[in-house]
Amino acid sequence: MARTSFLQASVLLSSFLSFTHAQSATPTQLGWSTTLNGTPTSFRSVFTIPASADAGADVLPNIQDPQAVNAQDVCPGYKASQLRETDAGLSAVLTLAGKPCNVYGTDVETLTLKVEFQSKDRLAVNIRPAQLDASNSSHWVIPESLIPRPRAEGSHADLDLEFDWSNEPSFWFSVTRKSSGDIIFTTKGSHLVYENQFVEFVNSLPEDYNLYGLGERIHGLKLNNNFTATIYAADVGDPIDRNLYGSHPFYLETRYFDASNKTKKPLKQSDLHQRSFGYEPNASKSPYTSASHGVYYRNLHGMDVVLSPSNMTWRTLGGEIDLFFFDGPTQPAVTNQYQTSAIGLPAMQSYWTFGYHQCRWGYRNWTETRSIVETMRAFNIPMETIWLDIDYMDQYRDFTLDPVTFPPSGVADFFDWLHSNNQHFVPIVDAAIYIPNPTNASDAYDTYTRGNESGVFLTNPDGSQYIGAVWPGYTVFPDWMSSNGVAWWVKEMVEWYKEVPFSGFWVDMTEVSSFCVGSCGTGNVTLNPVHPPFSLPGEVGNVVFDYPEGFNITNATEAASASAGASSDLAVHAVSPNATHANGMEEYDVHNVWGHQIINATYQGLLSVFPGKRPFIIGRSTFAGSGKWAGHWGGDNASKWAYMFFSIPQALSFSLFGIPMFGVDTCGFNGNTDAELCSRWMQLSAFFPFYRNHNVLSAISQEPYQWESVASASRSAMHIRYSLLPYMYTLFHQAHTTGSTVMRALAWEFPNEPQLAGVDTQFLLGPSILVTPVLEPQVDTVKGVFPGLIDGESWYDWYTGERVKAEAGVNTTISAPLGHIPVYVRGGSVLPTQEPGYTTTDSRKNPWGLIVALSADGEASGSLYVDDGESLEPSATLDISFAAVSGQLKVDVRGEFKDNNTLGNVTVLGLTGGCGPVKLNGQPVDTAKVNCNQDTSVLKLSGLNDLTNGGAWQGNWTLSWT
Ligand code: GLC
Repeated sequence: MARTSFLQASVLLSSFLSFTHAQSATPTQLGWSTTLNGTPTSFRSVFTIPASADAGADVLPNIQDPQAVNAQDVCPGYKASQLRETDAGLSAVLTLAGKPCNVYGTDVETLTLKVEFQSKDRLAVNIRPAQLDASNSSHWVIPESLIPRPRAEGSHADLDLEFDWSNEPSFWFSVTRKSSGDIIFTTKGSHLVYENQFVEFVNSLPEDYNLYGLGERIHGLKLNNNFTATIYAADVGDPIDRNLYGSHPFYLETRYFDASNKTKKPLKQSDLHQRSFGYEPNASKSPYTSASHGVYYRNLHGMDVVLSPSNMTWRTLGGEIDLFFFDGPTQPAVTNQYQTSAIGLPAMQSYWTFGYHQCRWGYRNWTETRSIVETMRAFNIPMETIWLDIDYMDQYRDFTLDPVTFPPSGVADFFDWLHSNNQHFVPIVDAAIYIPNPTNASDAYDTYTRGNESGVFLTNPDGSQYIGAVWPGYTVFPDWMSSNGVAWWVKEMVEWYKEVPFSGFWVDMTEVSSFCVGSCGTGNVTLNPVHPPFSLPGEVGNVVFDYPEGFNITNATEAASASAGASSDLAVHAVSPNATHANGMEEYDVHNVWGHQIINATYQGLLSVFPGKRPFIIGRSTFAGSGKWAGHWGGDNASKWAYMFFSIPQALSFSLFGIPMFGVDTCGFNGNTDAELCSRWMQLSAFFPFYRNHNVLSAISQEPYQWESVASASRSAMHIRYSLLPYMYTLFHQAHTTGSTVMRALAWEFPNEPQLAGVDTQFLLGPSILVTPVLEPQVDTVKGVFPGLIDGESWYDWYTGERVKAEAGVNTTISAPLGHIPVYVRGGSVLPTQEPGYTTTDSRKNPWGLIVALSADGEASGSLYVDDGESLEPSATLDISFAAVSGQLKVDVRGEFKDNNTLGNVTVLGLTGGCGPVKLNGQPVDTAKVNCNQDTSVLKLSGLNDLTNGGAWQGNWTLSWT
């Protein structure tokens, strides 16, 4: 293996190494798209790109090279001088403190330091070369138009952070929380290294630190303290611990302290008392407290963040040091500060997007697609949206329909029928654009022609078109920085909508992925359409035989035959760093935001297609801030139990990244699923905001009706989901307006319990719903903790309404036979519900309900947000607040939105003094409508509809039960 400079390290770590396992194909003449399992054969012989076209240089990332020079050992660091201090911050000049080390590039002699106290909760530190040279990557400054820089705003009088620095032995700085003296970030003891294409700084961390974020990767929620978090957008099928599709250079850190002495050092796990995970016998209050802060590194370059037990080393391939510190001091405060001031608040989603989505790679024609939708209904499994993968396209070209299998003549029938049932359609749209074969007039492709004429594609450094390869063959790639790029894309969308009435866009391969190294199509376009350099699932010699763990037990016969085969999967590469943008920028500098930019362009497109309506986009590659336009799915996971588990930390990480509309390929993408895994997964994903089942080509079918057990498990979990849609929608509105999260880690809601710092096998939906899923095969119980009990919290079983009896901080064994997902309601909450219908449109016409889960003090509160479910700026809304105290629930209604649905049921959980006469606005409620169960302490009121004829939210009301 050749040794490399750092320049190659993270890029190659991320892409080349990960890619090696995927090259299963031999360069033969395959009939592209013709030999897939079950698809018609046309026997067209096409050229297959040789696998070698996608092989990178064989290099050893220096992070893994024991002989690589450690810049910290040899570089001199800088000395600060010319200090200028103002009320709003300070500035200084940093000059190289000794002989240049030039270890992985050329040292920059002089830098500027600028520190700003930007607001009441944000401090910014910026270090950049004093003389900017646009041709040097380390001098590269992110254009404001691309990723806005958080600006100083308002007063900083309340900022709890201070900045300190020193020149001994070379320049270092620290950020300290004033109120406690805790140093949250310090580069003391390290050297700043600033070379062209190599920027490094190191900050120390406390022992046993609790750090979250730095995505995207498949990893536990809490980051390990001995691995490298590479941030470089890569199209790889969800390898564990490695860089994936998105780039989120942001972390949250939580430090726990003794509640009695916050100025002491942060606690280590070993400091926690042993009994009951940390609580003394008879303790009635947690002895701990915590403080959280956030750090955002506004840098687009490939980056390695090397986490070690006592520090983290940041290495980027260029760009400024542009750091933003958020003082918290709670996780909700950090997330709110990060979203509201730095990256933007998450997009409000339309109501229908919270319905269930069914997808797969391999729905072959309109008839089959329709039959999927019909069968879902026949099995009475709610379905809102049918998705199509690349199968619908004419030879995998964007904005087309396959003339044989998805002919335009079938469109009207299909969509009239689908829409008349209030159901939706979302197509995949790929990043790459097919470049037609110039020697074959019938290969002309208008989308390319129009783009080419408008100059919207990436080029090589010599100005020729950059030609890579994706599904359709040799392709070009939109350049979102070209002056016509976005307008061209918007127009393509608008025109295509006239042919295919989609409801949203699924943008894929946006890292941006290319199946070969460099401009491999240059000089080869006359071979187009060509086959990718690997075989697809289902093509000759590449059959999916893989099943989840436990399949051999539950399905003994099938397992025996499957084990005879071999499995294979796909992975791809990326457009090379020297691809050049219209403004001269190289992919090297902006690779990590290609996916963010196509999301932006698609957002503009959907706004043009549906003026005034909320665009619905699910994107693969995201950057900090993509949440303001789109949601994200977890990419190409596998039908394995581990991936079901990892979906939880991945989702929670995306809560931190400000992309709450998140879900994964339920039942698993690569490989075959089985009934047990799919049953558990359909139930788990029912509590994720984005709920979609998706499957790879030629794996066994996995629609929830394929197994009776999965169908019934799905129906029961969906019944809960659809009942809670008003709650979920309200949570989204809160996220959209305040920067709160939707899926939450237990540690964030219960900050006084250090034992929860790493819990990612359970999660909360908003503040009030606790989900404790089964994540392993062949069990009928699950262990879970009931957070907050130490501080007097109560939990109620969703199904029985009974109060949970458990011990504080103890992992409790919970019964969870197949088909049952443990769900709990937090005491102190009022949850708005609505009777589920088959679609969200149906649901929204049904009676409302309320679940009033009383705290130990007999109190509860909550809220409900209602609007038309689709307008970007609704003309009327309803904001309803609920407050229960002393046996009385008060409902306060504000706003003008008209909703005429009646109130059906009210359920009160955790009654302490039994039930007295029930009255609505002082009028006795007929006892036939009242069911008070003294044993379970549950009061159920039903059939209230006639008492609320004009609608549940026509005005304020009071309900009393004592
Ligand atoms: C990519 C996507 C996957 C899709 C496939 C075919 O692998 O991540 O979801 O099914 O491409 O389009």
